[in-house]
Amino acid sequence: MSEMGDGRIRIRGDARDAGERVRDRGRTRGINFYTRKWVRPEDLNANGSLFGGSLLRWIDEEAAIYAIVQLGNERIVTKLISEVNFEASARQGDLIEMGLIATDFGRTSITMRAEVRNMITRKTILTIERIVFVNLGEDGRPAPHGYTEITYDRDRTPGACAAA
Ligand SMILES: CC(C)(COP(=O)(O)OP(=O)(O)OC[C@H]1O[C@@H](n2cnc3c(N)ncnc32)[C@H](O)[C@@H]1OP(=O)(O)O)[C@@H](O)C(=O)NCCC(=O)NCCS
Repeated sequence: MSEMGDGRIRIRGDARDAGERVRDRGRTRGINFYTRKWVRPEDLNANGSLFGGSLLRWIDEEAAIYAIVQLGNERIVTKLISEVNFEASARQGDLIEMGLIATDFGRTSITMRAEVRNMITRKTILTIERIVFVNLGEDGRPAPHGYTEITYDRDRTPGACAAA
């Protein structure tokens, strides 16, 4: 943790006590599970289980919000989603939770790892090792974001300074 000078504490790196972070649970260590979804009829495939496309849309949106909060810029785009490993599924009425952790801050990019779990069966639904977002400037070209570490605060959220 570090003192930010205005009385607030910034929690960095692998600190274990912030938000809804999952504590020491094997491979989910360090991942923040921010968002929960309730699987509804419109989210199902013909097999009656969760449609992968719905899940990927939710993850892309979740990852975009994460990138915006980490990089302090709304102008970010998905560059890469690595292999998606669907390990288990969900049925109508199940509750799922989506977790992300930044694994690398590049010059203009941020890389994160994703995991989705079924809260009812307690199984991992999928993992994605690399989701890469690129920070863009006003010209729409990649622009340096200047960050090297995860923030667990809202200090970089666009508009955070104006609202303070
Ligand atoms: C994102 C985009 C502007 C990047 O353009 P680009 O010419 O590849 O830019 P650069 O070569 O300068 O790379 C920018 C960053 O992306 C990273 N990158 C580029 N290609 C990559 C790849 N295949 N995998 C992982 N990272 C990659 C680079 O390493 C760099 O990161 P760094 O500065 O942290 O090292 C361009 O590819 C684009 O507009 N793509 C479409 C994005 C989009 O619309 N997404 C929504 C889904 S359709």
